[in-house]
Amino acid sequence: MTACFSKYALVIALTGITCLPFYSLAANSDKVTGLQCEHLVNPIGIDNDHPRLSWQMTNEKPGAQQAAYRYFLGTDSLGVATGKSVFWASSKAISSVHLVTYQGKRLSPFTRYYWRVELWEPGSAVPVSSGVAYFETGLMDQRNWQGAWISDNRDVQIKAAPYFRKGFALSKPIRSARAYIAAAGLYELSINGQRVGNHRLDPMFTRYDRCNLYVTYDVTALLQNGDNAVGVLLGNGWYNHQSTAVWYFHQAPWRARPAFCLDLRITYDDGTVETVRSGKGWKTSAGPLVFNSIYTGEHYDARLELAGWDKPGFDDSKWKGTMNRAAPSPHIVAQALQPVRNVEAIAARSVTQLDSLSWVFDLGRNISGVSRITVSGAAGTVVRLKHGERLYQNGHVDQSNIDVHYRPTDDKDPFQTDIFILSGKGEETFMPRFNYKGFQYVEVTASVPVTLTQQSLSASFMHSDVPVAGSIRSSNPLLNKIWEATNNTYLSNLFGYPTDCPQREKNGWTGDGHINIETGLYNYDAVTIYEKWMADHRDEQQPNGVLPCIIPTSGWGYESGNGPDWTSTIAIIPWQVYLFYGDSKLLADCYDNIKRYVDYINEKYPSGLTSWGLGDWVPIKSKASVELTSTAYYYASTLILAKAAKLFGKAADQTTYKALAGKIKQAFNAKYFNAASGLYGTGIQTEMSVPLYWGLVPAGQQARVAANLAKRVMADGNQLDVGLLGTKAILSALSDNGYSDLAYRLATRDQYPSWGWWIVNGATTLYENWPLDAKADISMNHIMFGDIGGWFYKGIGGIKPDEQQPGFKNIILEPQFVEGLEAFEASHQGPYGAIVSSWKKTGGIISWEVTIPANSTATIRLPNKKITLQGRVVDAGKPLVLRAGSYRFEMQ
Ligand code: BGC
Repeated sequence: MTACFSKYALVIALTGITCLPFYSLAANSDKVTGLQCEHLVNPIGIDNDHPRLSWQMTNEKPGAQQAAYRYFLGTDSLGVATGKSVFWASSKAISSVHLVTYQGKRLSPFTRYYWRVELWEPGSAVPVSSGVAYFETGLMDQRNWQGAWISDNRDVQIKAAPYFRKGFALSKPIRSARAYIAAAGLYELSINGQRVGNHRLDPMFTRYDRCNLYVTYDVTALLQNGDNAVGVLLGNGWYNHQSTAVWYFHQAPWRARPAFCLDLRITYDDGTVETVRSGKGWKTSAGPLVFNSIYTGEHYDARLELAGWDKPGFDDSKWKGTMNRAAPSPHIVAQALQPVRNVEAIAARSVTQLDSLSWVFDLGRNISGVSRITVSGAAGTVVRLKHGERLYQNGHVDQSNIDVHYRPTDDKDPFQTDIFILSGKGEETFMPRFNYKGFQYVEVTASVPVTLTQQSLSASFMHSDVPVAGSIRSSNPLLNKIWEATNNTYLSNLFGYPTDCPQREKNGWTGDGHINIETGLYNYDAVTIYEKWMADHRDEQQPNGVLPCIIPTSGWGYESGNGPDWTSTIAIIPWQVYLFYGDSKLLADCYDNIKRYVDYINEKYPSGLTSWGLGDWVPIKSKASVELTSTAYYYASTLILAKAAKLFGKAADQTTYKALAGKIKQAFNAKYFNAASGLYGTGIQTEMSVPLYWGLVPAGQQARVAANLAKRVMADGNQLDVGLLGTKAILSALSDNGYSDLAYRLATRDQYPSWGWWIVNGATTLYENWPLDAKADISMNHIMFGDIGGWFYKGIGGIKPDEQQPGFKNIILEPQFVEGLEAFEASHQGPYGAIVSSWKKTGGIISWEVTIPANSTATIRLPNKKITLQGRVVDAGKPLVLRAGSYRFEMQ
């Protein structure tokens, strides 16, 4: 104790080492923040009658811990703030949990509930309180819808998008109003001429004939006393896929003309409620949006604009009546997730005029999203905007790396191309509503000369607008750029479900999804997207347990591409969400699905070995045995199932699946492990890394196998020789087993083949293939090889979740002070707050600073060096457990 130099005296280590965080705060700064409901801040339109509530203790006092909590919920914010008028008060729970499932009185639909939480620190009689947060329930029950599903009832082949409108009058003062809108396809909603909200491409893509999402908006401010009008513009999205491309979405069983259902629920000052709803009395017409495809582009003829169509007083006498139709599925549920938005505005970096009618704009970086052009010209001038990731030598946009799955039947639907026909009424702006693309360059061609400058075109980076949850900084600029490119790619592939690429396919490839789950969760608070995607998985699963390789799918993918190496998403993603958030709901929701899936493989492959799968996709040189990699994923899913069974107290399942995992492991090692040589399979990098990473190596053999892997990498010239499954495993297989220097060297190599090779050649996103001149699989915005973005946190920063205390309740901190790197900092915003691992080397001394958030602990694992913690010598051989606070270690 005497060696410590702070006024706080805390026992910080279970080992008996006693020390203190290096800073101290004079005053009590007890705070409770970060209140979330269903992992969202103050959400409106929640359908869950047992919503999850969570908070963070942001108490900077060293060693701060929550000893007990209590929460209040009610419909009156003041009553909740004072605790005097509440609908539900939980009892005081002696617990440090920060995430609870509401178990109080039954919640009502259409209701705003305010809530706050009180926390006690150990030994304190008086709690500290959070501020008041809220959530608002939505319809909660299908029977609460009042509107009818309506469409314009035209043929699915008709290209023009339908506009819908209804005028109505309100005569009493309005207290509040909500719009609840569900659509089969995409919608834009407007009230009195103003667009509602800033979401893009709503509602998110689901298996439309099994589940549809509805979105809730607070529209109080948009309504007025007297005459009002509501307008709905419908797009096709994946619902009415008119373009022809891979995976047969144009033949989807759900395909029909887009439709929607709307309840505009108005509560008056006097407490009465009126619902303006979709149904008879609405009018519909075609308009300027003459073609829209989520896959290819949008065509807009401004000459056909319907000025004032969504405002009161518009003459809709020539518009047609609408037709009621059946709901697209029996499940219309709340879209409780971060929406897609135009997140970042990007100015063109340059423009080059190619000839009198065409220009190429360069954004300077590859993105997913849309361009926006402002131009003036004569009525009928046709402006085409062709988007691509690269240029031909002659400066024109080259789409040949991304158009391979585009199968046009005529020339009316050009790929990644918008067509804007000018009205001739001065300066006009166009941005597509129901499409996005992957691109860096836009080639603009006009049918007659127009004037364009660099400012005429800009772009928006679009993606699911998930909060940032992590950052990496290091003294190696290449490492920093690889991390940034990985994030650009991850976000470019997040559109309410994770995709493979934003241009060629835009599909929810399962393998790409689970390979990048850690990259996603270290860097972004993306849980809501994964919860939705796992619901899509449950909707797509066959009764026999089989899942398709792309999700959502319209039916393709149950017969090929869907082995355990891809569709183990069903187990891996809920498990990682559990590890990162400490929230077992998703795992519980998917439990039966994982079980059906594992049972199916067991029935079909009773030996425990399976060669079902695609294998190590896009390898550099050597292709690993498909049976080796697929069996490893089968094992991983079975093990997760056994662990989930234990967690949920399903003892019989636990025994069954533990035994099955053991059997798979044994069969795997019997066939692939050569005990004499310590090699797996033919000894190539993926075959050596995968067993290490997924825990298949027999006890006591890890060091030998890892040494052989390292030898193999060195024999391969210190360079990668892996494909998709190998990239997931190799860096961790090395860094977890004593070869972090080598892992770092691989990760930051700048020669072919490597991530760095792309970067030094100008990449701002990750590529699908290693050589820059590859002939196939050459998208330039592919998340496939993106696991490296998560590895930086764990493999160098050493921030890892602890399976025994998930959600970073206890953090494993195991930094690797790798050779050749001078300084590194990883920070991750976990459920308890910011976790920081920051180190630098100065004159032979490594100093490492860590931050452990309140109400959590960390287990420190350090290399066997002479270590001091805040000046005091630490026995590196002993595990060290630290409580919340900031600490500085020094090592020689
Ligand atoms: C996709 C990949 C995917 C692969 C599997 C490709 O077309 O873009 O990312 O995982 O197919 O077959």
